[in-house]
Amino acid sequence: MNTADLQNTQMLVAKNDLRTFKFEHSPRLTAADLAEGQVLFDVEYFALTANNITYAVAGDSMGYWQFFPAGEDWGRIPVWGFAHVSASKHPDVAMGDRVYGYLPMGTQLVIQAERVSEKQMVDGSAHRAGLAPVYNQLLRVNPSPDADADALQMLYRPLFMTSWLLDDFLAHNDFFGASQIILTSASSKTSFGLAFMLAQRGDIKVIGLTSPGNVDFVNSLGVYDEVVTYDNITSLDAKTESVVVDMAGNGSTLAAVHNHFDSALRYSCLVGATHWNERSGAQEMAGPEPELFFAPNHIKERSAEWGPGGLENRFDTGWQSFTAKVGNWVTVQNCRGEEAVGQLYTQLLAGQAPPDVGYVANVGSV
Ligand SMILES: NC(=O)c1ccc[n+]([C@@H]2O[C@H](COP(=O)([O-])OP(=O)(O)OC[C@H]3O[C@@H](n4cnc5c(N)ncnc54)[C@H](OP(=O)(O)O)[C@@H]3O)[C@@H](O)[C@H]2O)c1
Repeated sequence: MNTADLQNTQMLVAKNDLRTFKFEHSPRLTAADLAEGQVLFDVEYFALTANNITYAVAGDSMGYWQFFPAGEDWGRIPVWGFAHVSASKHPDVAMGDRVYGYLPMGTQLVIQAERVSEKQMVDGSAHRAGLAPVYNQLLRVNPSPDADADALQMLYRPLFMTSWLLDDFLAHNDFFGASQIILTSASSKTSFGLAFMLAQRGDIKVIGLTSPGNVDFVNSLGVYDEVVTYDNITSLDAKTESVVVDMAGNGSTLAAVHNHFDSALRYSCLVGATHWNERSGAQEMAGPEPELFFAPNHIKERSAEWGPGGLENRFDTGWQSFTAKVGNWVTVQNCRGEEAVGQLYTQLLAGQAPPDVGYVANVGSV
């Protein structure tokens, strides 16, 4: 056994400077460290995308540091991934049980297992009280790992839920009277998931805004009607009634879209902040006041209309069609060990990770 495997390793990020990080090591936790009702997990692997960087950027303002507390100055970035039970002091959770859900960038995790059922368990630790329930659930999954299916789930499911909801929200509002939807960070998984859904409707034009280096990738997806670079926004017809969905959070880019379309901009929807270091570019803008997309509100509205299982069934149809395609668009790459994960994190933070690779990571060595 590798000596590193005898340790519990956790990646910590400095809250006041996300470029600074360290790996903290402590003796590997065992059953002897657990209190009644607690469960110890070994993290198998997790996905890492710009979405996780946004969790860190919004760590203080939106509470993302509270999921896996690491003191005042350091934070543990939440990730979506798979883990299995290595010790349990809960009668209904057994060694080897596997789950999918919100995990830290580390090798081990202890939860206070509550509301344990055949389908899921909930982390009822004191520090989790008051946090959004969806993040506190760990879903039980098949005990035999299927690396390909797991990669699709980790990389896309949390993002595609937002893409799918946005598509439904826009269509439900008759696209606010617009005939085209403009998506920023068109190369991001959340944007191309939305473009995929919109393209299937056929009655709305989809324009992707991206960086010059990502144009070929975005064009190759075949889900955008037109792809334009950020410095070429004025080439678009300013009279065409449009909606912008902003995944980049870059103040200058959003202002350029607003000022170019002015009153032809029918709706401005804020979703992400991939260009997290350009957010301060906010300035006076023509057109409508941007509105933050709050997915839980839309879920609530549609769940009430569609009844039990209605939203889930419709989402599953979209998910099946998306996953049948996306495997050909993005190559999955495994990233294992502290050095590799540290390098990947630095690359993602700087926006230097190629959009045609989906990263599956583990800070441990096995
Ligand atoms: N509100 C919600 O509920 C919700 C849910 C899901 C996702 N989101 C947000 O949607 C965004 C996309 O997430 P994702 O995981 O889908 O992204 P991703 O696939 O990792 O996106 C990668 C792309 O983002 C852009 N990018 C990333 N880092 C950058 C940087 N430092 N500087 C400049 N550009 C950068 C680049 O695209 P371009 O060159 O095309 O700009 C890059 O190709 C995130 O901000 C995420 O938080 C929000």
